[in-house]
Amino acid sequence: MSSVGDRYQALLAGGELRPDPDQAATVERLHMLARELDAAPEKGSVLWRMLRRAPEPPRGLYMWGGVGRGKSMLMDMFYDCVRIHRKRRVHFHEFMIEVHDRLRAERAKEKGDPIAPVVASIADETKLLAFDEMVVNNTADAMILSRLFTGLIDAGVVVVTTSNRPPDDLYKDGLNREHFLPFIALIKQRLDVVSLNGPTDYRLERLGGHPTWYVPNGPEATEAARAAFFRLTDYPPEDRAHVPKADIPVQGGRTLHVPKSLKGVAVFSFKRLCAEARGAADYLAIARHYHTVIIVGIPILTPEKRNEAARFKTLIDALYEQKVKLLATADADPADLYPAGDGAFEFERTVSRLMEMQSADYLARGHGEE
Ligand SMILES: Nc1ncnc2c1ncn2[C@@H]1O[C@H](COP(=O)(O)OP(=O)(O)OP(=O)(O)O)[C@@H](O)[C@H]1O
Ligand SMILES: [Mg+2]
Repeated sequence: MSSVGDRYQALLAGGELRPDPDQAATVERLHMLARELDAAPEKGSVLWRMLRRAPEPPRGLYMWGGVGRGKSMLMDMFYDCVRIHRKRRVHFHEFMIEVHDRLRAERAKEKGDPIAPVVASIADETKLLAFDEMVVNNTADAMILSRLFTGLIDAGVVVVTTSNRPPDDLYKDGLNREHFLPFIALIKQRLDVVSLNGPTDYRLERLGGHPTWYVPNGPEATEAARAAFFRLTDYPPEDRAHVPKADIPVQGGRTLHVPKSLKGVAVFSFKRLCAEARGAADYLAIARHYHTVIIVGIPILTPEKRNEAARFKTLIDALYEQKVKLLATADADPADLYPAGDGAFEFERTVSRLMEMQSADYLARGHGEE
C-alpha cells in the first residue's frame, strides 16, 4: 500500500491535482501521523505487553478551512493509507447520534455517570476516529463533547477531523456556550490545528461553468448528471455499475437507503425521494449528510401530484437551509414545475430558492454554513 505522501505526489504529477501549499503542509503532517499509527503497538499485542506502561499515543489533527479546499479528499487519502484495523471514518453527525443512543442505553442501567462506559466501549473498538465535517449546532452535543473527547483522547484514541470553522468559532453564539469552551481548549491542547484555507474552492471550479439544472429529462440530461457525478467524485466512469450505496441514520432510529453515495455526493430519483411516504426527518438527514445531491427525473407537477409537490418543497427547504448543492434533471425549469394546484402559492418560495441554488454565490457557500 502506498503512503499518503506518495499518493498525493502521484496525483500532482499526473496533473489531477493542482499544487497547493496548505495541502502540501497538511499532507506532510498526515504522512507522519499515518506512520506513527502504523508503528504504535496494537493494544494487547506482544510488544504492547512488554511495555511497562501504555505508550504515548500520537497527536491527532483538526483540519479546518473553507469549502472545497480538499479537506475530505486528504482525510480519505490518509484514512486509506493507515494500515491499522481498529480505525473508523464516520460523519460527525452520525457519530453523535450513535453516542446519544449509547448514552441512553447506559442511563437506563442507572449505574451512575453514563459517559465513562460509553468512552470505554468506543476506545475498545477504535484506535483512530476520523470525522468529516465537525460542526456543533445543538446543545445536547455541545454539553457532552468536552467530557466525551477528553475521555477518548485520554484512552489513547487518535482523533482526526475536518471542519469549516476554526476551533474558536465552533458552536458560535450557541446556548450556554460557556459549558462548551473546555472542548475548544481541549482541541487546541491535544490536537494539532492546521488550516486548509487557500484561495481556491476546487469544488466550485469543478462545478463552475456547468449548469446544475438539466431540462428536459432524457438521455442528454441523464448523461450530463452522470458526468457531473463523476467530476465531483473522481470516480472512474468505467466503474459506473459499482457506485457504492449507503444507509444513513435518520433521527428516531430509522435508516434511509441512498442508491448512490460517494464522497459526500448522493444520487436519488425524484420518485424515491418524493413519491414515497417520506418526511422532514428523512430530508434533514440527507441535507446534513451530503454536501451535494443529484435528483434525477423531476416531472412537471400537475395538481393531482400535490403530495409530491409538498414533499419536494420540504426537501428543498432542508437542502437550502444546509447549503447543499443541488443538481437535477427535470421536465421544466423551476418556475414551470408546479404552476397550479394546492400549495402552488407557497411553492413560489421553493421556486425562488431553486433559482438561488443555481447561483455562483450559493454554490460558493459551505455545507451547513450559517
Ligand atoms: N489541489 C487540488 N487540485 C484540483 N482539485 C482538487 C484539489 N484539491 C481538492 N480538489 C478537488 O476539489 C473537490 C473538493 O474537495 P473536498 O471535497 O475534499 O473539499 P472540502 O474541503 O472537504 O470541502 P467541504 O468543506 O465543502 O466539505 C474534490 O473533487 C477534490 O478532488
Ligand atoms: Mg468535505
